[in-house]
Amino acid sequence: MTENTQILFKSRPTGWVDASHFEIARVPMAEPAAGEVLVRNIFMSLDPYMRGRMRDQKSYTPGFELGQVLQAGAVGEVIASNDPSLAAGDLVEGRLGWENFSVARADAVNKVDGNVGSLSHYLGVLGMPSMTAWVGLRNIGQPKEGETVYVSAASGAVGQVAGQIAKMQGCHVAGSAGSFEKAAYIMDELGFDAAFNYKEAKSLGDALGQACPKGIDVYFENVGGAMLDAVLLKVNPYARIVACGMISQYNLAQPEGVKNLATMVGNKVRMQGFIVSDHMDLKPEFMAEMSGWLAAGKIKYREDITQGIENAPAAFIGMLKGENFGKQIIQISDPPA
Ligand SMILES: NC(=O)c1ccc[n+]([C@@H]2O[C@H](COP(=O)([O-])OP(=O)(O)OC[C@H]3O[C@@H](n4cnc5c(N)ncnc54)[C@H](OP(=O)(O)O)[C@@H]3O)[C@@H](O)[C@H]2O)c1
Repeated sequence: MTENTQILFKSRPTGWVDASHFEIARVPMAEPAAGEVLVRNIFMSLDPYMRGRMRDQKSYTPGFELGQVLQAGAVGEVIASNDPSLAAGDLVEGRLGWENFSVARADAVNKVDGNVGSLSHYLGVLGMPSMTAWVGLRNIGQPKEGETVYVSAASGAVGQVAGQIAKMQGCHVAGSAGSFEKAAYIMDELGFDAAFNYKEAKSLGDALGQACPKGIDVYFENVGGAMLDAVLLKVNPYARIVACGMISQYNLAQPEGVKNLATMVGNKVRMQGFIVSDHMDLKPEFMAEMSGWLAAGKIKYREDITQGIENAPAAFIGMLKGENFGKQIIQISDPPA
């Protein structure tokens, strides 16, 4: 009988996540019931929102259940089907488990074609993180030619796309990231106009001032905390803050305060949060535009692929600390030849 390695949610973190919050289980591979398919998982996405799902509090997405297999966006191959809509050999993406093999309802996964370079793209540049950047700029940031757009966590899954879209729209684009290597990547490879390593900046205000000499018109906010406070002192009149995420706060037992909100009043700043899954009606438009940009070489995308499902907990913890360089993905098995 084929064995299935699963990562279970063992206990709820109150501060930083560590290995003790996960448990590895080895169980027999399950059989699909009527209306279900058995999927061999190939690539799995690790995302910061999963830290929120580890909390026991009301949120836009249901929490992970203790003792159960953790869930993630994944791409895989159907190896057995008990539903006429899918057949063995079909490639699908959907919310599956942190495991080698998942049983899913056939109507809960989407068939994908394999002609996109790598199947991992469905989890990054043609998937949720890239669509997050696209929706956030389209609906909230609305950058105009000549404006300054600043992106935090700019070498990450969302940030690298946000900056490149703003660049295509004729903006001055600046970004920050947590190492000199990441900062060099966003300038040299992605074409940002300015970049800095926020961990080595003596003053975030000075670093922002140098990177954004004309002030900030659009802030694509991925980190929150001290960075948001520093940005609030650099905003131009009618600036837009795209509140996409605040990862600096996710592992704190007590969130930090933000002191400089008063600058929003005189500058008439608009700050708006959003959740990408509320905008799935836009997915066809996003896919068409992003696939076109990708095929034309207008968007580059770095992935950070860790091998093996048993290494997913360490990769997840590492991503929350900035050890990933690009979109964090786990490769669970080989794509079909
Ligand atoms: N609203 C939505 O629907 C939506 C959807 C997807 C993602 N998000 C949010 O978007 C943000 C980026 O997500 P992602 O998937 O693109 O992740 P990511 O950037 O690929 O990975 C997370 C990165 O956050 C940075 N980071 C960690 N702690 C930090 C801190 N204290 N201060 C500053 N940066 C820190 C690290 O990069 P450095 O090395 O640069 O520190 C780390 O690599 C997150 O806040 C996430 O929650 C929102």
